[in-house]
Amino acid sequence: MTFSALSSIPVVTVDGPAASGKGTLAAGLAAALGFHLLDSGLFYRMVGWKALDSGVSLSDEAALACLATGLRPRFDGEAVWLDDREVSRALRQQEVGTAASKVAALQGVRAALLHAQRMARRMPGLVADGRDMGTVVFPDAVCKIFITAGVEERAQRRHKQLIEKGLPSNMSTLLQEIGERDARDAGRDVAPLKAASGALEIDTTKRDAPAVLAQALAYCRSRLESDAC
Ligand code: DC
Repeated sequence: MTFSALSSIPVVTVDGPAASGKGTLAAGLAAALGFHLLDSGLFYRMVGWKALDSGVSLSDEAALACLATGLRPRFDGEAVWLDDREVSRALRQQEVGTAASKVAALQGVRAALLHAQRMARRMPGLVADGRDMGTVVFPDAVCKIFITAGVEERAQRRHKQLIEKGLPSNMSTLLQEIGERDARDAGRDVAPLKAASGALEIDTTKRDAPAVLAQALAYCRSRLESDAC
């Protein structure tokens, strides 16, 4: 597909910090709009998981960029397979999230993952969630959303998610890890977490997911309609 054909496919971006509710919002928007869904954090989690699994140092940029280039994930519904292993649950572990945040600070890793993320742009449209979807990966997105929530509430949400998935979780460790992850994701030199210019900013603290989805969906529909004119 040519560049201009690709760029005519509408993209909605949802960026925000860890456990802000972007995954839930992005999935809700994709279902309501009938669009494909890209969870870009999964790519960084896959690199983090592979590094931990194979003993590659989380600061060895060249080796990590090679891991990122060689990723051949297979998606089957909710299941993710890497190297013939089903890794969906492993990717959600807190230590893999922390490793993902560390490898994500390296330019070589980000460059290696850029093409695969852009290839997720398919008809009839894409909802992409992450940290730099609206600023770097899809700067021409028709609709950009940036969501935030207080750190305590985000730690509580992540705690609940991990427990529901049967994974280990500890609130005070989570609070500390999320705080550190925020600082790393927002403070790095390459593609730091920040709202794209013109993004709709939504603070989800003390708001429930359906209300946030309704607000974001109304905004996206109006942007998509005006873009179609
Ligand atoms: O969204 P998540 O928690 O699954 O992301 C895991 C880490 O990956 C996050 O701490 C930072 C990194 N990440 C990134 O740097 N850029 C993205 N577009 C998505 C995730």
